[in-house]
Parts: sequence; structure tokens; C-alpha cells
Amino acid sequence: MPRIYHGLTVVLAFFGTLIEAYTSRLVVGTFSTPYLYTLKYDDDAGTLEFEAKSEVPAASQWIALNHDGTKLYGTDWNAQIPSFHSYDIRDRSNIKHEATIVGGDTCGAGSKSIFVNPSPRPPYPVYGNYYYGDAHCGTIMTVDADGVLDGVLTDYAYPSASSQVHGTAISADGAYLYSADTGGNAIQVHGIEAATGNLSALVEATPGWPADANPRHLAVHPGGAYLYAVMEGTSEVALYRIIMVDEGDAGGSPLLARERSYALLLAGDDAADFWGDEVALSARGDYLWATTRARDAAARGYISLFALAADGRIEEQLWLGRTTSSGGFANSVAPHPVDNRLAALTDNSTGFVQVWNTSEFLLAELVIDDGGGCCANAVWLPN
Ligand SMILES: *[C@@H]1O[C@H](CO)[C@@H](O)[C@H](O)[C@H]1NC(C)=O
Ligand SMILES: *[C@@H]1O[C@H](CO)[C@@H](O)[C@H](O)[C@H]1NC(C)=O
Ligand SMILES: *[C@@H]1O[C@H](CO)[C@@H](O)[C@H](O)[C@H]1NC(C)=O
Repeated sequence: MPRIYHGLTVVLAFFGTLIEAYTSRLVVGTFSTPYLYTLKYDDDAGTLEFEAKSEVPAASQWIALNHDGTKLYGTDWNAQIPSFHSYDIRDRSNIKHEATIVGGDTCGAGSKSIFVNPSPRPPYPVYGNYYYGDAHCGTIMTVDADGVLDGVLTDYAYPSASSQVHGTAISADGAYLYSADTGGNAIQVHGIEAATGNLSALVEATPGWPADANPRHLAVHPGGAYLYAVMEGTSEVALYRIIMVDEGDAGGSPLLARERSYALLLAGDDAADFWGDEVALSARGDYLWATTRARDAAARGYISLFALAADGRIEEQLWLGRTTSSGGFANSVAPHPVDNRLAALTDNSTGFVQVWNTSEFLLAELVIDDGGGCCANAVWLPN
């Protein structure tokens, strides 16, 4: 606990200096074009501008920053071989490819990389997941001293043949990996071995509810007491309490207890017309952002904001607003890492990145029309 409060103090102190004008940069990936775009957000002017386009070996439909913001890891969603790319991002206008890792040894035919999640704890293992075909598997990658992906520690299998994990979340203490098993309609929980990042045997598999909920992405509150899942099938955010079960000498293990769900749709909407997308915590961990996409390109998706209590319990769904487009395959929401008020939203139906604030205002938009490739998910760079 003290570590968490310390973290909050640092963030608040930093935030205090940011209330004035500031600029932030973000990087956005694409679904099908081999580029990473660097954008600049100016909070004072309320503008989002194009800064650079880096040519890379592959489109990354999911990108994630490492613990110190020097390296970026991306999926290679179009590759027939399940693989991940490693980039140096210190020169924001010229993102450099450094390595490609092939995993998925325990997968069957047709699986493609879908998600990559770097641990914030040494030795900074990177968890990769797969989708499509026979994808009941995951890969744990190692990094070298500079953070470059440098090998496969191990491939592992999920228990059910129907498992397909679209997203994972790591507990703040780095002790557990939660996997959103969309294909198997479950949340899988593994222990993480501190020294290596290897996973222990499966701790628990919590079935999703209802039968077609299909958890897609997850977030865990830093206090460790709550987990949030966005359900692709039902377009809901489910709130789970994490109960640590005392196992004596073996320590404890987390048990997920679903408390309730919140709709990302309005009365009269048919869940079959939407697909739930993203759930993510604000910088201070007191807001939760969530989105769903419309399957019909002519319809619009939803974005929603929730207020959280200090322990992470959802207190209230503050608002549920329509996005300006269907979102296409995206509608990914990325809260700013320092400014608690802001989040970036992406779309590939027309190709844009937007910045929203917690009062449901759309503050800025940049269209990047590269033929349906842009924009997948965005990451904010450290200032
Ligand atoms: C990782 O853990 C699994 C058991 O959970 C074990 O079978 C495997 O050998 C371990 N791999 C490494 C590289 O430590
Ligand atoms: C969001 O932006 C609107 C429009 O600029 C502004 O009135 C509102 O105060 C902002 N909300 C927050 C929380 O900053
Ligand atoms: C968005 O990306 C998906 C996946 O590549 C693609 O199927 C779709 O056509 C794209 N959207 C548009 C409008 O091009």
C-alpha cells in the first residue's frame, strides 16, 4: 500500500505543474499500413497535430510502451507467423525497429498476435497473446538490459481449446497476470514468478457472465481490490472484486467475484450491433474510461466515464456518450498518463485520433486518412 500512495503523490505533484499549458506527444499504430504516427497535443491551444510518420516493418494493431517509456512493443497482426516487434522510441520522429520475436509454439494453425503487455517490474517480461485460428496460447518474452525484446522465455497454453485471449492486465504488485479470454468467455488468472516473469500454474478461471459476454480487455485498480472487464459480446463493463484467499504457506491467491455490470449501450440498442472494446484507468486511478464500437459503419459507438472510490469500486457511471463514428475496428481509449482529465480515442472508419476530457468534451481531433489503416490504439509518451 505505501508504494501506491507514494505513486499517487508523485503523480499529483507532477499534475500540479501541468495545470498550466503543456504539450504531450502520442504514438498511434495502424491495422494494415506499416507506419507509426507521432502526434503532438497542445493543451493550451486545444490542438492535436501531426508530427512525424515512421516507416516500420509491419502494421501493429496493438502497441504498448515499456516501463520507462524508451521502448515500444507492437503486434504483427497481419503476419501468418505469430510475431512481435520491438522499437526504440527515444527519437519520437524516427521510431526505430530493433528486433522481431516469433512465438506461439503452443498455438495451432491460423493464430496471429493480438496483444502485447510489458510488465512494469524487473526483469520486465513482456506477455504476448494471440487470436484467430487455434490460439489457446501465450508467449512470455524477455528483454535485454536496454529493454529490447530479445527472446522467448516460454510459450504456454491456456486450458481450454476455445481460449483466445484478446487482452491482459498485470496487478500493480506484478504478482498476477489476468487474461481476458474472449473465445473461452472467461478471465484466466496466473501467478507471476518474481525472478523470471514465468507464469505459475493457472490459479483460477472465472467464467464470464452471461454466456456470450466474452471479456475482451481488462484493467486492475492499483490498490489490488478491483478488476474491470469490458465485455465484447454484451458491451458491458463488469466490476469484479479481487478476494485474496489465504493459502497458508503457499501465500494467497486471488478469486474474482463479479459485483455487477454497467451497460455501454442505451435502452433500445441491440448488443449484437456493437462490440465492446476498451476499459482503462485515468492517471490518478479515480476514473475509468470504457468504449464500445458499432458494427455498422454508418452507426456510432459509445464512450463512457465512471467514477471510482479510493479502493477502486465503481461509484457511478458519470456519462455515456456517442462517439462521432462507429470506431471501425478501434474506438480504443487511452487515458493521459499524467493529466487525469484527458483520454485519446482512436477510429479507423475514417482514420482519426481525438482527445476527450472527463466532462464529455471532444477537445481536439486529427484525421489521418491512410486508407483504413489508421488508427488502431494510441500510447501517450512520457513528457
Ligand atoms: C515456466 O513455468 C512452467 C510451469 O508453470 C514450467 O513448466 C516451465 O519449465 C517454466 N519455464 C521456465 C523457462 O522457467
Ligand atoms: C472539458 O472541456 C470543456 C471545454 O473546454 C471545459 O469547459 C471543461 O471545464 C473541461 N473539463 C475539465 C474537467 O477540464
Ligand atoms: C479498419 O481496419 C479493419 C482491419 O484491418 C479493416 O477490415 C477495415 O476495413 C478498416 N476500416 C476501414 C474503413 O477501412
